[in-house]
Amino acid sequence: MAGHIKIFDTTLRDGEQSPGCSMNIEEKIEMAKMLEKLNVDIIEAGFAVSSPGDFAAVEAVARTVRKPIVASLSRAVEKDIDASWDALKKARHPRIHIVIATSPIHMKYKLRKTSAEVLAQAARAVRYAKAKAKNVEVEFSAEDASRSDRDFLARIFSAVIDAGAAVVNVPDTNGYAMPREFGELISYLKNNIPNIGRAEISVHNHNDLGLAVATSLAAIENGAAQCEATINGIGERAGNCSLEELVMALKVRRDYYGKAKQPRINTRFIYPASRLLTSITGVQVQPNKAIVGANAFAHESGIHQDGILKHRETYEIIRPADIGRTDSRLVMGKHSGRHALVSKLKELGYTGLTETEINAAYHKFKELADKKKNITEWDLEALISDGVKQATGAVYTLESLRIETGNKIQPTAELSVNYQDKTLQSAQTGNGPVDAIFKAIDAVIQRAALGISLQDYIVHAVTEGTDALGKVTVRIKKNQKTYTGNGANTDVLVASAEAYLNAVNKYLLRSE
Ligand code: KIV
Ligand code: ZN
Repeated sequence: MAGHIKIFDTTLRDGEQSPGCSMNIEEKIEMAKMLEKLNVDIIEAGFAVSSPGDFAAVEAVARTVRKPIVASLSRAVEKDIDASWDALKKARHPRIHIVIATSPIHMKYKLRKTSAEVLAQAARAVRYAKAKAKNVEVEFSAEDASRSDRDFLARIFSAVIDAGAAVVNVPDTNGYAMPREFGELISYLKNNIPNIGRAEISVHNHNDLGLAVATSLAAIENGAAQCEATINGIGERAGNCSLEELVMALKVRRDYYGKAKQPRINTRFIYPASRLLTSITGVQVQPNKAIVGANAFAHESGIHQDGILKHRETYEIIRPADIGRTDSRLVMGKHSGRHALVSKLKELGYTGLTETEINAAYHKFKELADKKKNITEWDLEALISDGVKQATGAVYTLESLRIETGNKIQPTAELSVNYQDKTLQSAQTGNGPVDAIFKAIDAVIQRAALGISLQDYIVHAVTEGTDALGKVTVRIKKNQKTYTGNGANTDVLVASAEAYLNAVNKYLLRSE
């Protein structure tokens, strides 16, 4: 089927399944708005039946975005399909995504079903989903397709197309396939599914051997019309096909793939989307990651720098501005006003901020400008994604912190925290200043009673220099769920306290 390559973004579903990447509803909405600006064709917002939180997130995304199709994952059972449909009802373009495993190993050990039973169940589920409403689209995924029997795959896809599936998805669930082999599988399916003219072929590739983008490109070369991918390549285990790498490969090599295979992605939002996800999850992108890594456009060697100065394209195949990487050293300072801040934030992609959020951002900005001469875009992003949300969704807020530390004394932290208009205080000693702060917070929030445990404590400098903004990410865990908190301050100990309280607040707001 001719047409542009459709990008199905699964950052909010498969991506969220990667360790440390869970997001709350507000964060998912923020991410979904960014994906809409990026102009992805489909947003998979979650797996509605899996938890009340996921259901609510699918429902909220379905209500929020208007242009992209919104999908919810379901196993091939009525209970899952009912939940997906209930959550998707308000979507302008709803899609129910049904999955069942088709490889011999999955059918035998996981499903304990014969292939005939799996085929019948798949067709039944698609028919059931398609009957939900006139405007509902159904996608069917054959989990572990790359290790499934080709002839069986062709038969099950043919059956689900007859039952009403508009998209048949071929996942390389374990990232096992080699690019040429996977391309051949797509070509085989195109030529051996008799009714394939009524559906599109999609692929969903994992990165266990570092080949997810390569297998996806091979699929496109052989007729796949849709690719499933995530921002920063996050996802189960080694992750999914990275959206930015796939899209830029198609764009940069337009000469090779041709006009017809260009995705409709607004590439200027690639970098803002990557940064937004990083600041929401606290999971950093490796510096040498293609397209969005910190070093992706850094030229260190003299020969390269010389070449770049003489003619940019000697060593640069993408213009940074094309993916929204503006000169991040562009600065604001003490004398920049509220209006300048708002327009800079708009440029960075933060368009839907409320008045309260803008006020909180401006307050944080002024505080920072008093301590730091030059404020970069990265500083602003750190402030907006941490400080602003902290101010608008807080249960506990840090009022003051005093630390005594050194190599000859036992570190002590004294802090006061506001909780429902009351000031709570605590003073504790620890092995180091951070340990003392966290113990003082534990006492204030009564951690033992809450039953949460500390998973990760990560410090990163947002910009260079000794007055750099320190950004801290803290992850806490309760009942297998992780909550990520961020704090940004020129004082890394204050940022640590804010990050811990932010994580606790997220847990409390979410469990409410
Ligand atoms: O990896 C996989 O097979 C999946 C399916 C649900 C598409 O995530
Ligand atoms: Zn997957």
